[in-house]
Amino acid sequence: MKDIILSASILSADFDHLGDELRAASATDLDWIHIDVMDGQFVPNISMGPFVVETCNRITDLPLDVHLMIKHPERHIESFAKAGADWISVHYEGNPNIHRTLQEIRALGCHPGIVLNPGTPASSIETVLEVVDMVLVMSVNPGFSGQKFLPSSVDKIAKINEMKNRINPSVIIQVDGGISVDTIGSAYEAGARSFVAATAIFKHPKGIPAGIAALRSAVE
Ligand code: DX5
Ligand code: ZN
Repeated sequence: MKDIILSASILSADFDHLGDELRAASATDLDWIHIDVMDGQFVPNISMGPFVVETCNRITDLPLDVHLMIKHPERHIESFAKAGADWISVHYEGNPNIHRTLQEIRALGCHPGIVLNPGTPASSIETVLEVVDMVLVMSVNPGFSGQKFLPSSVDKIAKINEMKNRINPSVIIQVDGGISVDTIGSAYEAGARSFVAATAIFKHPKGIPAGIAALRSAVE
């Protein structure tokens, strides 16, 4: 079995039954829960905040992987850390003091991650590789689940893989957006080891455990 980290994005969960969905996912060999935080400004959509992170923290023992798609993330990282986030990833775009913010995330006791939008070149994040534990490559434009995987992401993952192996080999490359049984393999080949999926897990026609198992077997 390949050593991959599957992170289920609750953006596609049934919020009528969030607790049940989280318990069903946690009863499998799922690795992390991914929480997409959107502010209606950095991205067009508004989703959830620290309160939902706190709820997840009460329901599951899995690590909480928080993806901040918000303006001024530095103003909110402390609330997310207090709510129980284990990983906090912030975007490169629009954040001039990103190096400092990443260090602050670590000082709060969380693992810092840097995120790149599809339009941002791999080289932009070279200088922060020394202070992060993860690079999240967006393989769709952020804001919504259920979008199509952008094939150009594969090349970008390969470039980042080469760069991080040189500078900070322990960094994990995560990929987020349009991950399915058809796309996960190419991202793995390019060097990604953590995979975020919302639709492929929470909307799998045979249920959550089947969605998780299908993704895992697609990288074998
Ligand atoms: C998009 C979010 C993703 C999204 C993935 O802005 O960051 O985490 O939920 O959804 P799928 O897996 O459906 O592409
Ligand atoms: Zn995400």
